[in-house]
Amino acid sequence: MPKNLTGQNFLKLIDFSSEELLFLFDLSQDLKQKKRAGIQGNTLEGKNIALLFEKPSTRTRCAFVVAANDEGAKTEFLGKNDIQFGKKETVKDTARVLGRYFDGIQFRGFAHETVEILGEYAGVPVWNGLTDKYHPTQILADLLTVKENFGYLKGINFVYTGDGRNNMANSLMIGCAKLGLNYTICSPKELWPEEKLVEQAQELAQKSGGSIILDDDPVKAVKGADVLYTDVWVSMGEEEHFAERIDLLKPYQVNQEMIDNTGNEEVIFLHCLPAYHNADTENGAKIYEEHGIAEMEVTDEVFESDNSLVFDQAENRMHTIKAVMVATMT
Ligand code: CP
Ligand code: NVA
Repeated sequence: MPKNLTGQNFLKLIDFSSEELLFLFDLSQDLKQKKRAGIQGNTLEGKNIALLFEKPSTRTRCAFVVAANDEGAKTEFLGKNDIQFGKKETVKDTARVLGRYFDGIQFRGFAHETVEILGEYAGVPVWNGLTDKYHPTQILADLLTVKENFGYLKGINFVYTGDGRNNMANSLMIGCAKLGLNYTICSPKELWPEEKLVEQAQELAQKSGGSIILDDDPVKAVKGADVLYTDVWVSMGEEEHFAERIDLLKPYQVNQEMIDNTGNEEVIFLHCLPAYHNADTENGAKIYEEHGIAEMEVTDEVFESDNSLVFDQAENRMHTIKAVMVATMT
């Protein structure tokens, strides 16, 4: 039985047992059904939630707002220029002030340490909505999507291709290791994750019956994949690295050839989004102009194909974030 999550922070997956993660999937599915049935919830009635953002967001921000509204809570968005946070007042002091007003705090930003300090001093649940190192709420949505599609998680061959050392690759590695999936990072050696984190994941995988493999051969690594996952080649805050990443990661693009190389017609494609699958955005057009590449980590063909479950996955952000808030605040 999972221990009670009331009052807990949700900062990184390493802090949670596999039972607790599975409990969050069950709760997400219950809340999803309730939402689909049009039942208005009230589990968070009377609660006030602060949403702190140092970086932009579509899914995470909107998922927190809608999830909170659905369960009767109120939210306040605090952008990076709206409060004294870090500029005139320390993170520790801000945490102690916000904790006196709010019942829960979401933080998205740069240093992972910031969310840990908030979590230590706020005295109310703090949730990590993405830092440079981890994106734990995203992994709940990702693995819920896998579970809904296949009916189970243990033994699934999960291949992550692209930037193998970013917040997504790190968090997926820990999530998959905890839950018994076979996780392969298909990435050039220059972009493999920190050795210490890989060792931690390997220990967890040994206990869960999963495995962790690092492979720089994009043909071999994807063979037998049930899930092909990718993320942007350049994460928020790393924009000066576009040219070098494009050179390094071109062979790791998810395209039809890579899908064929899995040897599995039923392979599902996942991406946390936003995705560079065409040049129809301001940034996409600029990258095309400067680097001559219109599709980066995934081709438009795969993104729009039947293999792609990216919008089911995006929907699940809302149900899983709701589960995290309900589990930790009630
Ligand atoms: N996947 C994700 O976190 O999306 P946003 O950056 O839009 O929140
Ligand atoms: N790795 C990406 C994830 C976005 C959801 C970034 O940090 O920009």
